[in-house]
Amino acid sequence: MKKTGLTLFVAVMLGSSPVGMAQAKPDYAIRYRQSVYTAILWNYLPMGDMVRGKTPYDKAAFALRAERVAALTPMLLEGFPKGSDRGAKTEAKPNIWSDFADFSAKMKSFETESKTLATVSAAGDLEKIKTQFAKVSETCKSCHSKFKTD
Ligand code: HEC
Repeated sequence: MKKTGLTLFVAVMLGSSPVGMAQAKPDYAIRYRQSVYTAILWNYLPMGDMVRGKTPYDKAAFALRAERVAALTPMLLEGFPKGSDRGAKTEAKPNIWSDFADFSAKMKSFETESKTLATVSAAGDLEKIKTQFAKVSETCKSCHSKFKTD
């Protein structure tokens, strides 16, 4: 068992919450949020291929992936506790914590637009899906350009 796993185990035994754990260990928070982004991208890319016509549109597959992204986005913000601007390799810019109100607002609109994408995807109108997919992509870009290094 790796050190982090063992520490988490001990924390659980002592009754502290996983969120408290993330706050205590910046490297753990960094790995957590990067994993969630990786899971989002895993689902996002195949949707992008369908939107661009690179692969045929499959209503059920698209709706499932949109559903997953909508479920994952609200898990992100807790992965940015104070002090997690360092501690492991990270592309998070320090202005996240000095301008947390704007960062949170951008995260909120990512959540909202993703939820709408899930709803629109379940209905299955490809033109509406394309428009909404572009809106979600816009929220990725507007946050990355201000809060993420390249
Ligand atoms: C509110 C801000 C915000 C939004 C919205 C956002 N991101 Fe990010 N993203 C970040 C930050 C900050 C990092 C850097 C995390 C780190 O390295 O600690 C990041 C990192 C990533 C990474 C790299 C993860 C890794 O393994 O290092 C991927 C992939 C990613 N984002 C994809 C997306 C996609 C796709 C969207 C939209 C569908 C999106 N992000 C929306 C802020 C955002």
